Amino acid sequence: MSETKKRLLTGLQSSGTLHIGNYFGALKPFLDIYQDYESYLMVADYHALTSLRNPDELRNNIYNVVKDYLAVGVDPEKAIIFRQSDNQDHMELGWIFDCMVTVPFLMQAHSYKDKVAKGLEPNAGLFTYPMLQAADIALYDIDVVPVGEDQRQHLEYSREAVGKFNRAYGDILKEPKELIYDNVGVVPGTDGAKMSKSYGNTIPLFGSKEEIEKAVMSIVTDSEGKHPEHVYNIHKLLKTEEDLASLYEEKQGRYGDLKKALAEDLEKFIAPMRERREQITDDDVKKVLAEGVERAKEMSHKTIQKVRSAVGINL
Ligand code: ADP
Ligand code: TRP
Repeated sequence: MSETKKRLLTGLQSSGTLHIGNYFGALKPFLDIYQDYESYLMVADYHALTSLRNPDELRNNIYNVVKDYLAVGVDPEKAIIFRQSDNQDHMELGWIFDCMVTVPFLMQAHSYKDKVAKGLEPNAGLFTYPMLQAADIALYDIDVVPVGEDQRQHLEYSREAVGKFNRAYGDILKEPKELIYDNVGVVPGTDGAKMSKSYGNTIPLFGSKEEIEKAVMSIVTDSEGKHPEHVYNIHKLLKTEEDLASLYEEKQGRYGDLKKALAEDLEKFIAPMRERREQITDDDVKKVLAEGVERAKEMSHKTIQKVRSAVGINL
């Protein structure tokens, strides 16, 4: 990798099964450009601990997320795929960032407020979550972070943490920018609200043919517009509006047929990735993560040394 390339990083929490919202919001933008950058793809397993307290499930999710990364086509030779908890620099910089920002500032975070409103326990980890995320990014001198719309504020928080650090200690860390695709920033779920693991409205990215059909058939279609809005909005992710125009004209009002067409297009899109995923073993995952974290540490260790000496904890 050349020294002049800009740096890209994104991460997904290993808190459940990935859905097509995760794919179109975060993974697809990453896939589109990652080869032009020095790229990092992280499994945010410490973040998953803010909402998950089942060790078998967490372990299983970690394997699954890495398999998903590989199956969607990320080449581990061309991106550094690693796990947050394998590199303790994240914890250390996360703590230092916790000491940069105030409680009232963290209290403004939409994601925290939404999760608590949905009944998640307001544990301290959930509260300081954006500072661990800021550390994930700042450790690698990242320029660009592809994410969905719901993460926009977290990137502002990352910039705030970095800005406060730099103002206190000198220009040491880089302020990152988000990359949010216009048309897919919020992928709708089967009920029309944002698709999310925690809303029970997902189309799983690696679902079986039957699971995909079941999810598509459950899409709410009580819209009054020309076409069933929620079906159409998901269909638009797979085909151009021109491609869809004649189908939606021909089958106007026949919501069942339109859903069938969407399920078929999703199956065409998902089947090859699903087949690829079946070939990936747990040992493959362990190997990718072991190699990934070594490469990740090469970068993060340099940053954390600078940070330690800037704040005065190196003797
Ligand atoms: P979830 O809301 O399902 O728990 P996460 O918070 O783990 O998903 O999100 C992982 C990544 O996927 C983030 O970059 C997030 O912005 C993106 N993402 C999640 N849901 C959607 C969606 N419905 N539309 C677009 N992007 C999404
Ligand atoms: N907070 C992100 C989410 O819920 C996951 C995440 C953790 C992340 N660390 C990150 C995303 C660093 C981008 C960069 O989706």
